Amino acid sequence: MRLRPAREDDVETLATLNRQLLEDEGHPGKATLGELLVRHREWLASGEWSQDILDVDGHAVGYIVHAPNPHPLDPAVPERFIRQFCIDRRYRRNSLGRDGFELFVQHRVEPGGRVTLDVLESNPGGRAFWEAVGCRPFFTRMEVRRPADPTDDHGSAP
Ligand SMILES: CC(C)(COP(=O)(O)OP(=O)(O)OC[C@H]1O[C@@H](n2cnc3c(N)ncnc32)[C@H](O)[C@@H]1OP(=O)(O)O)[C@@H](O)C(=O)NCCC(=O)NCCS
Repeated sequence: MRLRPAREDDVETLATLNRQLLEDEGHPGKATLGELLVRHREWLASGEWSQDILDVDGHAVGYIVHAPNPHPLDPAVPERFIRQFCIDRRYRRNSLGRDGFELFVQHRVEPGGRVTLDVLESNPGGRAFWEAVGCRPFFTRMEVRRPADPTDDHGSAP
């Protein structure tokens, strides 16, 4: 396996795998394939997020989106945040995720650095994977929603 930066001709693969990721982790977002194409193309152009392809014999089997965390747990320790990590459904449970993460740590994380990521509660398989590759829970992000108000007039003057 090779870890290589994504190119313009990978954008369709990135969007397709991102769609799989959203579905399989139970993400509440409903981004369409078209919207995801735009997002990955924008990230390629802006460099805001790094996008790497996990490549086996010239074939993209997965991808990783990541960036330095601007709000690290400890400012003295460089930290890289993984925003997206997905292995194509067709190739799971063949150690590709494990190999891909190992390459990522080796080539994208400074010695002594830290990797952080969020796992949705709706994704126990993802959590089991991260624990299998050595990650441990550090904190739990909590949330609550204010119920939608159908009579809300968006704050216009009475
Ligand atoms: C999670 C994911 C990346 C794992 O990729 P993978 O290539 O199948 O993982 P590996 O084969 O390298 O698994 C390594 C170990 O992780 C654990 N593991 C992986 N997937 C698991 C699952 N669904 N349930 C329980 N344990 C799992 C196992 O211990 C496994 O070792 P084993 O196969 O010898 O039992 C892949 O299932 C995926 O892309 N899922 C959808 C997206 C996602 O959830 N990404 C993570 C978001 S936080």
